[in-house]
Amino acid sequence: MMENLEFNNIYNIDCIEGMKLIPDATIDLVVTDPPFAIDFKAKRSNYNRTASRVLEGYKEIPANEYYSFTFNWMKEAYRALKESGSMYVFSGWNNLKDILVALDKIGFITINHIIWKYQFGVVTKRKYVSSHYHCLFVCKNDKQRKFFPFTRYKKEDRGKDNGSLHYADKEDVWVINREYWNGDVKTPTKLPLDLIKKILEYSSEKNDVVLDPFLGSGQVAVVSKMFGRQYIGFELVKEYYDFAYERLEKNMYRIKEEDASVQPSLFDSSDGRWNKMSFLSNAKEIAEHLKKIPKLWDGRDAILEMKKNSYQHWKQMEWMGFYFQFLCEKYLADLIKIPGPKYGNVSFDGLKDIPWDFKAHAMNTSSNQIIVNDSQATAKGIKNYKAVGLILAIGEVLYNDEDRTFQKWHQKLKGGKSVYEKERIKRGAWSRLRKVSFDLKQISFIKITDDTLIKCGSFQSDFRNSNGKPRRAKVLIDLEKNQKELEYYIEF
Ligand SMILES: C[S@@+](CC[C@H](N)C(=O)[O-])C[C@H]1O[C@@H](n2cnc3c(N)ncnc32)[C@H](O)[C@@H]1O
Repeated sequence: MMENLEFNNIYNIDCIEGMKLIPDATIDLVVTDPPFAIDFKAKRSNYNRTASRVLEGYKEIPANEYYSFTFNWMKEAYRALKESGSMYVFSGWNNLKDILVALDKIGFITINHIIWKYQFGVVTKRKYVSSHYHCLFVCKNDKQRKFFPFTRYKKEDRGKDNGSLHYADKEDVWVINREYWNGDVKTPTKLPLDLIKKILEYSSEKNDVVLDPFLGSGQVAVVSKMFGRQYIGFELVKEYYDFAYERLEKNMYRIKEEDASVQPSLFDSSDGRWNKMSFLSNAKEIAEHLKKIPKLWDGRDAILEMKKNSYQHWKQMEWMGFYFQFLCEKYLADLIKIPGPKYGNVSFDGLKDIPWDFKAHAMNTSSNQIIVNDSQATAKGIKNYKAVGLILAIGEVLYNDEDRTFQKWHQKLKGGKSVYEKERIKRGAWSRLRKVSFDLKQISFIKITDDTLIKCGSFQSDFRNSNGKPRRAKVLIDLEKNQKELEYYIEF
């Protein structure tokens, strides 16, 4: 089509040079996340990435050159865009000003200023946590631009509380989790599949040409290919380019089950080694044994029982989770191998065909999020077994310990205050209210696969542990959002 450049290909060259080779008005959609002007300190520690796995070579633009850099690439994007086309530009707040001014100067018409709200989970001490990104939805010709309002939801589609899904999806604040990637080589930033898919569905059709001047890991090109769009893009850093190229060549993105129907031949990750049936039959078998466990757990009785059986965790303040683990070990002893496989310092609680973890969750708290296992161990477990399982006891907790009698009783049994407790008192921090009893309502069997990890976030409660070592990230599952993962349950 053009000198040396073709659609459905990507190029390891400067995008401004590259875009000059694209003829006028040939691009249907631009989706891009240009590089930062600020020093991207997070590149080594964020997003749960081990430093060695994050590719080096990320190119930054000095702050005083950012405006002219922005102006130059945008001018080319404007020229290459069709009258019917549109562009989505992502930006943090640091360099937003330059982006807005350049868009205006070049003649783009702003359609929406979208906020992408993501979940990050890193707590800051002296300021608020950054948890959004800007996305400027702009076009060349507001009358001719394409927009497909009902490709995702029909007018009559209703969600929870009878709300209009179509309306909710079209609001300009988009809540989409960042993707968690395990194992593979990664580039420092990556737009989630769901985010790009949403843009493609509203603003393009099959066979449209999608341009990303700043490919990074190639997300925009890969997702465009997945959903039958043509693509073209540029990336300056050779390693990133190679990575993006390989993903495109090998169709390597692991697509979610519901999306597989779009192009089943591409990106199908199932290899038949592990399937749904074996999870379900395991879950049912385990459930049969767990039906016999007590429904009402009294904190004092539970602790005494663990102590009597020399169960190592009887001194733990959060007795509920440990007691469930204790019960599982007791009732599943001849069914499950305990403990399960170990990755680094982290073990799974058990193994039966796949690794399993046992957890207890209080349903009467504000959060529906469950912190599961260490994220790297989980990723490795999934790699080796195709899935890992979570056996989750859900019940109502009584916190009726205002007078601290339960706490004092436990302390006396332990023979005085723990080191942790003494430290806490020294810091003058509040002691958490103790859970006095647990009324078991349900045991759920949750299947965690790569798809789950892509969907769910991860969690670091702080940057460092008290010993100064960085805290390891844990997988965080939101019970409300991960309905599909709930494969089986029994009620009490
Ligand atoms: C924020 S990242 C894009 C990440 C991408 N959206 C993804 O999901 O992986 C910006 C990328 O632009 C690349 N880059 C910087 N200057 C460039 C230029 N002049 N031409 C092409 N790529 C460039 C950087 O190497 C970096 O990978």
